[in-house]
Amino acid sequence: MTPAHAPSADGCWRNLRLAPGLFEADAPLADAAPACIVVQQARMVWLGPQDAMPAAYQGLAVHDGAGRLVTPGLVDCHTHLVYGGERAGEFAMRLAGASYEEIARAGGGIVSSVRATRAASEDELFAQALPRLQQLLDEGVCAIEIKSGYGLALAHERKQLRVARRLGQACGVTVRTSFLGAHALPPEYAGRSQDYIDRVCEEMLPALAAEGLVDAVDVFCERIAFSLAQTEQVFEAAHRLGLRVKLHAEQLSNMEGAALAARHRALSCDHIEHLSARGIEAMASAGTVAVLLPGAFYTLRDTQVPPIADLRAAGVPMAVATDHNPGTSPALSLLLMTNMACTLFRLTVPEALAGITRHAARALGLEHEHGLLAAGRPANFVLWPVQHAAELAYWFGQKPDCTIVRQGRVVRGVVQSGNDPGHEGMHPSNS
Ligand code: NIG
Ligand code: FE
Repeated sequence: MTPAHAPSADGCWRNLRLAPGLFEADAPLADAAPACIVVQQARMVWLGPQDAMPAAYQGLAVHDGAGRLVTPGLVDCHTHLVYGGERAGEFAMRLAGASYEEIARAGGGIVSSVRATRAASEDELFAQALPRLQQLLDEGVCAIEIKSGYGLALAHERKQLRVARRLGQACGVTVRTSFLGAHALPPEYAGRSQDYIDRVCEEMLPALAAEGLVDAVDVFCERIAFSLAQTEQVFEAAHRLGLRVKLHAEQLSNMEGAALAARHRALSCDHIEHLSARGIEAMASAGTVAVLLPGAFYTLRDTQVPPIADLRAAGVPMAVATDHNPGTSPALSLLLMTNMACTLFRLTVPEALAGITRHAARALGLEHEHGLLAAGRPANFVLWPVQHAAELAYWFGQKPDCTIVRQGRVVRGVVQSGNDPGHEGMHPSNS
């Protein structure tokens, strides 16, 4: 599980092809020229054509990339990975005709995961989330967002966020937490939605932020969740604590939540199937990322496609994420989401790949560390056994045999290493 014993990735990674649009080279790199990435002390220190590698790096260990395509480590910028139980029963109910909103209004949906999450101990939640995280990591994820929002009471939200932090430490992966106390109304507050939001703002968020458990603050702004005014109240509480915000916006209806979020300099607005022209304009001028979640769209058999062409025309950066959660997106493959984003939403392949790297990093405020191959950044990259970058979005339902460098260690895959290419093999245990 821990990469602490995985081999160091320090040295020269030769015979690579860098994925177009996802790197900044230190010397001009022609399309077909073999590239090299130099790693020292777990950081990338030089990238470019291997023939132009500075002499200072000549004596370093060599890792042979065998012509494989290299991308930055992937970034899953929207997940609800920590929860108790599962909701396969609701899947069956939807097959029998019930809608997501009907199930939620009847006391199922998010609230049923709240019951299971409250009943689980911290260790149980950790044990349930770990194999889910491992599946995402095995596909090259190097940074991930994990939300709370299935506790909906201080002690239980704390438990979820503590598990998120522990997962990051145990697996050697960057975890950004989002406090989503305003995800649904807990049953004990039935009919007292405003009292609950006051508690979120005045008690829960300040306490959890003081414990260092909150990196950003999220809200579900929707007619089955919280109003625009309540969303703004939570955003103001976040700002008082110096925290950035994001929003589950316009998923089931247009609440004009995105425009509000953009006014509050939101990192991202997520889902956005019903996003309006006004929302797009506000996001474009605030630099807010549009996070597309095709797993939830697919599961709910939604027919309202997010306004991709208008987002593209307005220059709004688009990210793609799993939205892993037990209700609307029990998905554990970020590559499958790129396939769906292309097939269902008509993203281009370069857009989909930027969506799980550069733009996803920006949606988490991690754009200076993650999502791009460039000197000075932590060594997080993936070697893919594919000919064309499009294959990363084209195949679905398979786990590619990739080699993963995460936090400067080779945590998955086999690579030929030595002082000369083709020397002795490096055989790390899987992460
Ligand atoms: O992102 N939209 C709200 N929240 C989740 C679903 C949560 C659930 O159904 O458990 C989402 O899709
Ligand atoms: Fe979500």
